[in-house]
Amino acid sequence: MKILVTGGTGYIGSHTVVELQNAGYDVVIIDNFDNSHPSVLQNIEKISGKKAIFEKLDIRNKQALKDFVSTHKDILAVIHFAASKAVGESVENPLKYYENNVGGTVNLLEAMQENGIDNIVFSSSCTVYGEANPPVNEDAPIMLAQSPYGNTKQICEEVLLDQTKASNLKTVSLRYFNPVGAHDSALIGELPLGIPNNLVPFITQTAAGKREVLTVFGNDYNTPDGTCIRDFIHVVDLAKAHIKAVEYLINKKHTSSFSVFNLGTGKGSSVLEVINTFEKVTGVKLNYKIGQRRVGDITQIFAGCDKAEKDLDWKTERDLENCMKTAWAWEKHLENNVNSQS
Ligand code: NAD
Ligand code: UD1
Repeated sequence: MKILVTGGTGYIGSHTVVELQNAGYDVVIIDNFDNSHPSVLQNIEKISGKKAIFEKLDIRNKQALKDFVSTHKDILAVIHFAASKAVGESVENPLKYYENNVGGTVNLLEAMQENGIDNIVFSSSCTVYGEANPPVNEDAPIMLAQSPYGNTKQICEEVLLDQTKASNLKTVSLRYFNPVGAHDSALIGELPLGIPNNLVPFITQTAAGKREVLTVFGNDYNTPDGTCIRDFIHVVDLAKAHIKAVEYLINKKHTSSFSVFNLGTGKGSSVLEVINTFEKVTGVKLNYKIGQRRVGDITQIFAGCDKAEKDLDWKTERDLENCMKTAWAWEKHLENNVNSQS
């Protein structure tokens, strides 16, 4: 019952490790702490009461990765989160993204093949759909990537498909919509480095006084209130889907060796709805202004989730209010623990 989690101290990885441990799995984590902090390991243990095996390892180091995996031949499945994820940075430094996200995935697949590990769950993104008519289902066409980061997700899906055809590999690729929120304990959550690009961390940091004002990027879109619409999914709901995906593979419920699932709520929320919900559940008045559109933003997207519900027996349980409540509790935890997190 051993699962290898790459990037397991990151935002989604840490929540998934907790859910795996709660479900009775033994977890092996590898991470290089490029975008996470060692204290996450203690906090995972505080929540689940269980210790994961941890190895500080960079998946770009092929030999070290192979050596490590060869000492854990009883791994049932790998959940592969480790990647770089800043869209803007990927435009400035594309080679870093191709090396880490694509090269790292190739190294991992080689290490798995050499050691007879046949099941992988991959972190993909709704970004592969570009601008499409929502609700967007898994059979929607893949659009030209808008950034090197987005391109790495598309390329990795292709690499996984080819390797699935050529070997015993079984793959589930999970296309996340917009993950937000934090664990109820407020001990783990998203750790944005520098100025956040994403909406929810920017909201919580503005409310906490770390940022002066939140700019709403455009209110002249063709939506009911003029602001963009996204599908915000609670990270704990998202984490639970990974356990379902692992079970789908190891219990051989799959009909195809390569499966793709959307992970979203199926409901779109506008930027102003998110702000209003934050103010309602926290009682904090947010300092925000309407600004220009952000280049590259699409008007609206939300997931069609029927496939995940039917085949994985999974759907979201938490609403936007819970997302905002837990994101705010996490922001306050960070404020109180600034020394241990930075
Ligand atoms: P994160 O940055 O919090 O977690 C990624 C973890 O991987 C970090 O702990 C980082 O230190 C580690 N890592 C990066 N490069 C590594 C390497 N070479 N070797 C070992 N460890 C390495 O990101 P996240 O939000 O938890 O995202 C997890 C995955 O989900 C990523 O693949 C990301 O692209 C994908 N994804 C995220 C979102 C999102 O909005 N958060 C949306 C869609 C897809
Ligand atoms: C971002 C990523 C995408 C990733 C997705 C899910 C970019 C360009 N895209 O998409 O690759 O798959 O997250 O995590 O980073 N907004 C504001 N003010 C802000 C910040 C955001 O109004 O300060 C608006 C944006 O215009 C957008 C919405 O909030 O309409 C959500 O933005 P964001 O959280 O950055 O997510 P996405 O753009 O959907």
